[in-house]
Amino acid sequence: MNNLDVILAAEDVKKSFRSPGGEVIEVLRGAGLSVLRGESLSLRGESGAGKSTFLNIIAGLESADSGAVSWDGTRIDELSNGRQAKLRGDFMGFVFQNYCLVPELTALQNVELALRITGKLDKNSSEYARDLLKTVGLEKRAKHLPSQMSGGEKQRVAIARAIVNRPRIILADEPTGNLDEETGKHVMNMFLDLCAQKNTALLLITHNPDFARKTSRRLVLKHGLVVEE
Ligand SMILES: Nc1ncnc2c1ncn2[C@@H]1O[C@H](COP(=O)(O)OP(=O)(O)O)[C@@H](O)[C@H]1O
Ligand SMILES: [Mg+2]
Repeated sequence: MNNLDVILAAEDVKKSFRSPGGEVIEVLRGAGLSVLRGESLSLRGESGAGKSTFLNIIAGLESADSGAVSWDGTRIDELSNGRQAKLRGDFMGFVFQNYCLVPELTALQNVELALRITGKLDKNSSEYARDLLKTVGLEKRAKHLPSQMSGGEKQRVAIARAIVNRPRIILADEPTGNLDEETGKHVMNMFLDLCAQKNTALLLITHNPDFARKTSRRLVLKHGLVVEE
């Protein structure tokens, strides 16, 4: 593996929680992974295995007890929150299980919001936001509010929003977990195609072995460690 091609790395990440009863739960016991430019990776594991905790630590949204996380060679666990947030907006996109769209904004405005936050909203980028909505098959839903869309449509808006800043990687935490099987399959295929087409790396948490099979590398989080399947 050429180190230059590693865009994201997590090394020896440890994290424990204290349960309300006072008992210490060791969730991550030295978990690590690296993501190469443009590759798709899936991470599976039982419910409660620590997948979301690990993803949040990789995203800098939660801090680890120890270990290192690097984006493009920069140790983000050593940066201030402000500096981290600035890097994050350019470096990564997110797709969540519950969509996390802003209810008062239309589909197009939700996608444009990601551009606005990184200070990139201009005529060209707005055109790109429209193109992406078209790519995910929602050109006729641009003016719909989230409450006026189905789950599958909302997740397609969220996918367009995740990719609009041209991030190097998208982190997705069970993105089809709230969708019925058919819709989930459709949305996942679209998501994987879009990432491949834009050469955007993907770290996908999923329960679904069929979806995992479609990624280029399959990882499992087990007993607090990441193992290659
Ligand atoms: N803030 C917290 N305080 C205490 N325990 C937590 C906290 N967050 C997560 N946990 C515990 O850590 C474990 C892993 O949670 P999580 O990362 O959400 O798992 P997964 O996403 O794999 O289902 C679970 O047992 C959960 O109860
Ligand atoms: Mg989870």
